[in-house]
Amino acid sequence: MDEPRLRIGVITSGGDAPGMNAALRAVVRTGLSRGHSMLAFMNGWSGVVFNEHQEMVSRSVSDIIHRGGSIIGCGRCPEMFTPEGVKRAVQTLKHNKVDALVVIGGDGSYQGALKVAEHGVRVIGLPGTIDNDIPGTEYTIGFDTTCNTVVDCLNKIRDTASSFNRAFIVEVMGRDSGWIALVSGLAGGAEAILIPESKYDIEDLAFEMNFAHRSGKRHFIIVVAEGCEDSHEIKHKLEERAAEGVEIRLTILGHLQRGGCPSAQDRLRASQMGAESIFALEEREDGIMIGIQKGDLVRTPLKTVIESKQGIDPSLMELAEILSQ
Ligand code: ADP
Ligand code: F6P
Repeated sequence: MDEPRLRIGVITSGGDAPGMNAALRAVVRTGLSRGHSMLAFMNGWSGVVFNEHQEMVSRSVSDIIHRGGSIIGCGRCPEMFTPEGVKRAVQTLKHNKVDALVVIGGDGSYQGALKVAEHGVRVIGLPGTIDNDIPGTEYTIGFDTTCNTVVDCLNKIRDTASSFNRAFIVEVMGRDSGWIALVSGLAGGAEAILIPESKYDIEDLAFEMNFAHRSGKRHFIIVVAEGCEDSHEIKHKLEERAAEGVEIRLTILGHLQRGGCPSAQDRLRASQMGAESIFALEEREDGIMIGIQKGDLVRTPLKTVIESKQGIDPSLMELAEILSQ
């Protein structure tokens, strides 16, 4: 018996992340290749609530695999926090005869997905966020590119820090998660990494900074996750404790971390997970997120994803401490 052809919608929701376009391309082209009809809603959940969509053909996703951001727009949609907004979203999906919706975004976006799923729409999540903070997957689309961007910035900051014999605080994104700080700090050879998941002692940090200066180290780079503590405050506290001759500068990297050409890793993983979302739907699965664990594609119930918290890998923190001496 022939499998039923589905009408499948797709959104990119929450903060944009490099590789979302590659995921979109994979969802659309895999769906089309298997005879399904595909449509994209614009600007995250807003496009669903306000019925802004476009039919997707293969050419709709041409020339996007290398582009950061999302060609269908991302966004945060306050209406989804209200029952009326969810009702409108469900009406749009029913009106357009959408059987299933693929939600490329973070755990907030999945909360919206679970609400529309209560009304009979099948949903699948794909982890799209630079923060790498989603349970059920070791890897989120965009994280690798962002870490590469931060490492590139750290290289540049190190040049000027060493030339001027200065300490630098570099604040990175990640919302409440320290993953971006941890991985880019380790890969960028930072002297200290401050993350929300691990307490730090300002006296110890100041001692290390002053000791490094005395021992002839010409730079001292502290990578701070935005969720840790106000980096201006950290700078102020360190300045109060700085030895003579230790100068401190602060750089907040901000949204440049979200943009840019996605890495090969992000494109590859996004392509694999995008295709898998269609296979899962064909296998009559829904209410799940596609993720990657130990290199394999895995499926985790969205309920489990939103009820859990993604911790950091403490062994990476220990390694960073040893290597920064
Ligand atoms: P992310 O998906 O990256 O975690 P957000 O937390 O900003 O990003 O969520 C993106 C959007 O998902 C929100 O603007 C909102 O439209 C929807 N959303 C988030 N939380 C909920 C919720 N509890 N109920 C319904 N929709 C939600
Ligand atoms: O979730 C992605 C992210 O870039 C976080 O790292 C950051 O805290 C937040 O989004 C910034 O959001 P906005 O773009 O709305 O300022």
